[in-house]
Amino acid sequence: METVTVELSERSYPIAIGAGVLDGLGERVRALRCGRRAAVVTNPAVASLYGASVVDSLESASFEPTLIEIPDGEEHKNLAWFGFLHDHMLQAGLDRESPVIALGGGVVGDLAGFSAATLLRGVPFVQVPTTLLAQVDSSVGGKTGVNHANGKNLIGTFYQPHLVWIDVHTLRSLPERQVRAGMAEVIKYAVILSPGLFERLEEGIECVMRLDDDVLVDVVRLCCELKAKVVSEDEREAGLRSILNFGHTVGHAVEVLTDYREYLHGEAIAIGMVFASRLSAAKGHCAGKTAARITALIRRAGLPTEIPDGLDGEVLAAAIKADKKVSSGKIKFVAVAEIGRTRFDHLTCEEIVADAGY
Ligand SMILES: NC(=O)c1ccc[n+]([C@@H]2O[C@H](COP(=O)([O-])OP(=O)(O)OC[C@H]3O[C@@H](n4cnc5c(N)ncnc54)[C@H](O)[C@@H]3O)[C@@H](O)[C@H]2O)c1
Ligand SMILES: [Zn+2]
Repeated sequence: METVTVELSERSYPIAIGAGVLDGLGERVRALRCGRRAAVVTNPAVASLYGASVVDSLESASFEPTLIEIPDGEEHKNLAWFGFLHDHMLQAGLDRESPVIALGGGVVGDLAGFSAATLLRGVPFVQVPTTLLAQVDSSVGGKTGVNHANGKNLIGTFYQPHLVWIDVHTLRSLPERQVRAGMAEVIKYAVILSPGLFERLEEGIECVMRLDDDVLVDVVRLCCELKAKVVSEDEREAGLRSILNFGHTVGHAVEVLTDYREYLHGEAIAIGMVFASRLSAAKGHCAGKTAARITALIRRAGLPTEIPDGLDGEVLAAAIKADKKVSSGKIKFVAVAEIGRTRFDHLTCEEIVADAGY
């Protein structure tokens, strides 16, 4: 088992990563010294695969867990289901010491985390992420929240978990398309922070996608280490943390313009990363060859690279403008300087689109 620590003084927490370790969860949660009543938040698909092991493991460690299911899908990450979780947690008799355990992908993690942050002003929170995206990204760093009719993730808070427990075996049941989408965030870390990881992926991204235990534990650990470091330095995204938005400006716009139906988040971000790399090359921030290497790796992961046909520049610029990260007309655009290093470029939405040649 590998452990990475997110250093945040008294709110520091471990991320434990292993293969076939789900059964060990109860013992580890007990070491947090919290109350016996516990809530496991999940959805029906994940519950049918891993619900029983998690509940058994908690019961063996003398917890009294209640399994609470929310329906599968991003459309349920809203205030109505947030309220539903509170109702069930209170009904189950949870108190201020009771741990809330999120078992699932980013949707379950964000919603359960926000509920844990607000129930009785905050109860212990444990993330057990079961998608690649959640294991390398959403379970680490403390962003929790729900969507609003006006946009994604508009309501929420920072609330760090007390423990992140990652079993890479859970990825074996994940649909391949979801694995590829998670791989987009892995590639993102490599591009912005780690030439070593990038070269490794260039050597054998197919190996990672075959879900071999040792390779996966290693790659997930590396990604968690990279994110943990960024979060430790800038928990609330005052500066450095925004490099994690690489590819997301255009990626979000593509998601919005296709009504969140056509692309998974990682697929849209893949398009956004290719766009950002080409723009970086066009503006002279990086070599053309760097953009070409990034594009080639994304293509090898089986991810899309091009803005969908029929989406013209003006519409794209307007969608970027509507995003919540635009302040005083300019976007803090994350550009690539070289593999493993970025720089910020303050650009208007029109410049982003025109300079990339759209
Ligand atoms: N908090 C953050 O920092 C952060 C970062 C990135 C993304 N997010 C959020 O994460 C969400 C996306 O997360 P996601 O990509 O994990 O999507 P998801 O939670 O919807 O999971 C994807 C699908 O996989 C299924 N699934 C989960 N684990 C499985 C397994 N082991 N086997 C088989 N099926 C499984 C789920 O039921 C779902 O249908 C979005 O809401 C996004 O806003 C949050
Ligand atoms: Zn993302």
